[in-house]
Amino acid sequence: MKRFVRSRVACAAAFAALAFTAGGRAASAAPVHPRMPSPAARTALGRLWLGAAWYPEQWPESRWPRDLALMQAAGINVVRVGEFAWSRLEPHQGVYHFGWLARAIAQAARHHIYVVIGTPTDAPPVWLTSRYPQVLRVHADGRTAQHGNRRQFSYASPLYRKFCRDIVTRLARRFGHNPDVIGWQIDNEYTNESYDAGTRRRFQLWLKRRYGTLAALNRDWTAAYWSQTYTAWSQIPLNALPGNPGLMLAHRQFVTATWLGFQRNQLQALRAHIAPRQFVTTNIGGLGWSDNWDHYVITRPLDIAAWDDYVGEGQLDFYRNGAMSDFVRGWKRQDYWVMEAQPGFVDWAPVNNSLVKGAVRAMTWESIGHGADAVLYWQWRSALGGQEQYHGTLVGPDGRPEPLYAEVRRIGGEFKRASAVIAGTSPRSRAALLVSYDSRWAIDFQRQTRRYHQLRVLLDYYRPLENLTHSVDIVSAGAPLGQYRVVFAPSLNVICRPLARHLRAYVLGGGILVLGPRSGMKDQYSRLNVERQPGPLVPLLGARVQQYYALDAPVAVHGAAGRGIGRIWAEALTPRSDATRVLLRYGAGNAWLTGEPAAVEHRYGHGAIIYLGTILDRQLMHAFVERLLAQARVRSPFGVLPRGVELMRRVGAGREVLIIINHGETARTVRLPYDMHDVLHPGHVVRTLTLRSQGVAVLARAFRG
Ligand code: GAL
Repeated sequence: MKRFVRSRVACAAAFAALAFTAGGRAASAAPVHPRMPSPAARTALGRLWLGAAWYPEQWPESRWPRDLALMQAAGINVVRVGEFAWSRLEPHQGVYHFGWLARAIAQAARHHIYVVIGTPTDAPPVWLTSRYPQVLRVHADGRTAQHGNRRQFSYASPLYRKFCRDIVTRLARRFGHNPDVIGWQIDNEYTNESYDAGTRRRFQLWLKRRYGTLAALNRDWTAAYWSQTYTAWSQIPLNALPGNPGLMLAHRQFVTATWLGFQRNQLQALRAHIAPRQFVTTNIGGLGWSDNWDHYVITRPLDIAAWDDYVGEGQLDFYRNGAMSDFVRGWKRQDYWVMEAQPGFVDWAPVNNSLVKGAVRAMTWESIGHGADAVLYWQWRSALGGQEQYHGTLVGPDGRPEPLYAEVRRIGGEFKRASAVIAGTSPRSRAALLVSYDSRWAIDFQRQTRRYHQLRVLLDYYRPLENLTHSVDIVSAGAPLGQYRVVFAPSLNVICRPLARHLRAYVLGGGILVLGPRSGMKDQYSRLNVERQPGPLVPLLGARVQQYYALDAPVAVHGAAGRGIGRIWAEALTPRSDATRVLLRYGAGNAWLTGEPAAVEHRYGHGAIIYLGTILDRQLMHAFVERLLAQARVRSPFGVLPRGVELMRRVGAGREVLIIINHGETARTVRLPYDMHDVLHPGHVVRTLTLRSQGVAVLARAFRG
């Protein structure tokens, strides 16, 4: 009994913490206005920032004024510096050289360029790793990382953290009140966990604190299976091999907790010495969708969220990049920074082709439209040596502008015109997509079909939502849902009891909840829910999933919501209440499924819970989403736009701002329901506009709402 109390508390605590950061509000269909950012966040989010990663330590000081003048001419007003400069900041243990950084900051200020300092802990200097090799990271296969690259440290090592704390404290003391330093980035893209012996011991201790007794752990992991029962904490393995789903889920949560501790160590050092107006963030990598650790947990104590937005190979897929941006905005449910953006091309994709001319500008404005207040390109100038010589830059090895520089200079001019108009505005949505890391991990550990790709499933929902509403939030399943009339949870595999209560309250308060395939199959230990799917929400739905099927061929579906096909995954639902209506049924084509319900609905006043057990083709998905938006009374005044056109809306400070981009290959015409001021061409008022391929319009009008 005691054991259950503990686990329920653990699950509930996660939701309470999320609700707390939102100013916690019970679910209801009433609108909620965006939260007020902290004083430090206001520094970051009060205007538009354009910038680049600049590495002054790689160049003679005599060159700096020329680089900074070129930046200033391009409209750059912020640089990020220092994040790999440990060997220049502390060339020998206890010997600190901060003078060059102080001079770089002062010179940048002369060009009206502010600075974000990156703490240098992603690249420890060789004196550290050779004198203290115990701080080195151990790969999952047992090899120890060596000097000569970056990220060679163990994220759990107390000794490494001690060195981090020391250098960060000294930097914070020196620059924490420098008026030209506006913020700090902790480390750089938390990436690699370690499998060293010390980390394994910490994992075992962490499990002990969490589960209390081995009996509880063995029960929650169903360890009787294949004789996995543990009789001592020290027996529990730490590896990256496929194994017990309970253990694997716990390891991901441990990885999150360990990066959080790694971050806290530096955050405390910074907070102790920096001015309240300086913000602290970290740049999150992994193409935005990485799932090494839980991004909601890591960004919670930071002032703002920031990510690194790379497309890699290929062209900009604006739905994907838009969804990723909305996902990032949802980490803290406030505007954010793009700390690194792709300057045309990268050097790590299979084919490092360049974005087409104009697409860097389109991508930059797309970020702003989705809630970014800053875009910094990586990097300013090609380093002459080092591992990334082929990467795109704004200035070449000779110090002269690359062709892309002109495009960035154009953006710089546009940011200057638009900054005051955009300040104080943010995207605002009535519809949201719900995600959870536990669910992502639980499905990816056991995909059952390699075709079930969670990002693609998410995008299947996102595309029609974006086309029909032009504003989608993507938030944690535990976030307050009061502002949304309809929420879609495409793959909410893990539904523990507190989460079920949260979602139930939303439905009973008038919200429309749409659960997608694989929902509610598991509890917080990755155990199968005995109610079957959607687990603790079976009574609310008045139906359950009788059986799931991985599909090798599509199946026909038809019903009130339309006609089309289901792909990849199909669940046969069984209604258990007269009030539960079947919206879609499977047609012929798969004998197990023929005639079985594919989607059901249970209404509660204005609220409703809907379960969709398969992945629909694009057309039927559009119709399905359209029907639910109508039911939820969510409408966009802009209608369906020409193909390839993206419209984003930011609201606040008495204004409505539209950012409209033509990502298509030919010109497109957009008609608006009212006149708007053309921010990029002051003095012009538009209602109908024709945009060339990669064309961007920024429009504004007075608006209270
Ligand atoms: C990022 C990283 C940068 C740089 C960049 C190249 O992931 O933070 O330091 O390596 O990739 O695309």
